[in-house]
Amino acid sequence: GATLGAAAAEKGRYFGTAVAAGRLGDSTYSGLLQREFDMVTAENEMKIDATEPNQNQFSYGNADRIVNLARSQGKRVRGHTLAWHSQQPGWMQNMSGSALRSAMLNHVTKVATYYAGKIYAWDVVNEAFQDGSSGARRDSNLQRTGNDWIEAAFRAARTADPNAKLCYNDYNTDDWSHAKTQAVYRMVQDFKSRGVPIDCVGFQSHFNAQSPVPSNYQTTLQNFANLGVDVQITELDIEGSGSAQASNYERVVNACLAVTRCAGITVWGIRDTDSWRSYGTPLLFDGSGNKKAAYTSVLNALNAG
Ligand code: G3I
Repeated sequence: GATLGAAAAEKGRYFGTAVAAGRLGDSTYSGLLQREFDMVTAENEMKIDATEPNQNQFSYGNADRIVNLARSQGKRVRGHTLAWHSQQPGWMQNMSGSALRSAMLNHVTKVATYYAGKIYAWDVVNEAFQDGSSGARRDSNLQRTGNDWIEAAFRAARTADPNAKLCYNDYNTDDWSHAKTQAVYRMVQDFKSRGVPIDCVGFQSHFNAQSPVPSNYQTTLQNFANLGVDVQITELDIEGSGSAQASNYERVVNACLAVTRCAGITVWGIRDTDSWRSYGTPLLFDGSGNKKAAYTSVLNALNAG
């Protein structure tokens, strides 16, 4: 394949990017989006604060711009994200208990129903575990509604959009030896054993010097896949430049290609200047939209074999 999307498709995978509605008027950005990618995630526009700014009043304008553009170009869409401790609207931040539980489930149901049939995979729950060695759930207003809040969200999403894949998505879960990775693994294992509807696990894969691509990354992906879920690389970016960055990207692509149930890869932005990171050059295109060495190594890895 001559583009990331086409090359990934030849391997039965997708290659996606995060998209910001505010950048769609930039022709360099929208040109690269149209040409290179076949999966799209809204970077912020489908989060709770964007889609439900006032309780039970929904706002889909910017999300629709992204979803409709993607679908008009034959691209699929990942829905990000239905339940999260962060980017909650003000009205939700101060809620607790059964009122919050109901509001969260109402949000999951309404948004997943609105987009039903148009979303390839939902990040139903995002970032629900703590970093560090505890392996515990992250303390949040949602967690304080009861430990079963995650499965309640998945059940509501399944009812609302029965044909979408339902993912749990997190960061710092790439290294198999980390307590957080093990904790998410045990949750997925438990959900599968009890019939809680879960189809996929998203590995955000934000890598930098402090958090490099782990040597056991492929093992992690394979171990989760062995539980009977797809794995997806959902927010990839890798700090660095030149051949070192290129070879790290290549390792990530090769890990996904080696795991049959690795469905695809999404990078978290198009050009370095589009990145959420305030410094550095973590993406595949430079600020002018030129292909970097990392781009070439990804394309070559997708086309190899
Ligand atoms: O929308 C407002 C705008 O009205 C205002 O003028 C502007 C001024 O600062 O801020 C805008 O909101 C910002 C928003 O991005 C849109 O640009 C927020 O302040 C800023 O916090 C927000 O950052 C996003 C971040 O999630 C928030 O948690 C990043 O763009 C986005 O890339 C990042 O994405 C997350 C994933 O959702 C989950 N995994 C980690 C990943 C990286 O942090």
